[in-house]
Amino acid sequence: MKKQIAVIPGDGIGPEVTAQSVKVLDAVAARFGHEFSYTYCLMGAAAIDETGSPLPLETIDACLDADAILFGAIGHPKYDNDPSAKVRPEQGLLQLRKALQLFTNIRPVSAYAALRHLSPLKDKQLEGVDFVVYRELTGGIYFGEKTLSADGTEASDGCVYTRAEVERIAHLAFAAARQRRGKLTLVDKANVLETSRLWRRVVQELATQYPDVAVDFLFVDNAAMQLILNPAQFDVLLTENLFGDILSDEASVIAGSLGMLPSASVGKRTALFEPIHGSYPQAAGKDIANPLGSVLSAAMLLDHFGMTEEAALVRTAVDWSVNAPFVSKDIDPVNFYFTSTIGDLLADYVSGRAAEDTN
Ligand code: IPM
Ligand code: MN
Repeated sequence: MKKQIAVIPGDGIGPEVTAQSVKVLDAVAARFGHEFSYTYCLMGAAAIDETGSPLPLETIDACLDADAILFGAIGHPKYDNDPSAKVRPEQGLLQLRKALQLFTNIRPVSAYAALRHLSPLKDKQLEGVDFVVYRELTGGIYFGEKTLSADGTEASDGCVYTRAEVERIAHLAFAAARQRRGKLTLVDKANVLETSRLWRRVVQELATQYPDVAVDFLFVDNAAMQLILNPAQFDVLLTENLFGDILSDEASVIAGSLGMLPSASVGKRTALFEPIHGSYPQAAGKDIANPLGSVLSAAMLLDHFGMTEEAALVRTAVDWSVNAPFVSKDIDPVNFYFTSTIGDLLADYVSGRAAEDTN
């Protein structure tokens, strides 16, 4: 198969981790006879430095033309401590999500046996953890009207959801639950927020179309606690934009490191694949970042192409590297492998070169 992939390395460790995914994708292409071509695009602080805009028009065009997008990370400390900055790197990602109508962000979470010691949770809580967060990505408080009074003493962020926005992601979440263990949990704050009551009403209505899916409802404060107390109870977690952002970072402690978690953002146009971690500026350029969140995002990209055997092989390679262990500094601060070495090892495994030597 011939595929065109838009690659947006972005900021901080983004370029380093993305480069490892490209190595792995090249190894997949060679082994399975595919042809992947890459168009490199600017976004975030890197794009502001070069063009003045966090999302140049050429990037949007290249993404619209591509079969999928592989994205690294976004953000730079020089903007974080300047609340008055008019242009911010993150605007690039938010605008791209909106431009491509990537309304659903899918974040799978599982616990690796070999990484259990890194999680602050006890073994018994990590047993059987396997859930996925369906986070709404183009609505809610991220995109509502923002105001700041002239004297700077009052600010507001509006939170708006429409029935249609809730319905389209809820259908995807129900469908996912059906393919998995048949359980869907809506996380909201329906005891306080009108938008949450809309979510609850819509999900209750849709539930009648999915009688094989068991639905329950959790307030977000309770959900934050349950995620730590008993994460194995969850199958599909459906939630709005801000709650999903917060809960998925919380959930990453289960996997042992934020660097392990991948995501897929899907909608009406080209789908985008990115690790859930940020730009980790302290590690940028040091070859110490964990590339597995990005490589697992590339596996989700392969699934999206219908290349399930290829995706499974990439996941097997990741499991193999974690068990070996060929792991980065976040996982083992003493005996760690460099980002680029892990990428080489994974690509070798996928090519079939490492398998015979090490297994
Ligand atoms: C994420 C990130 C983004 C978000 C930021 C960088 C805008 O935290 O993808 O989770 O808040 O959505
Ligand atoms: Mn986040």
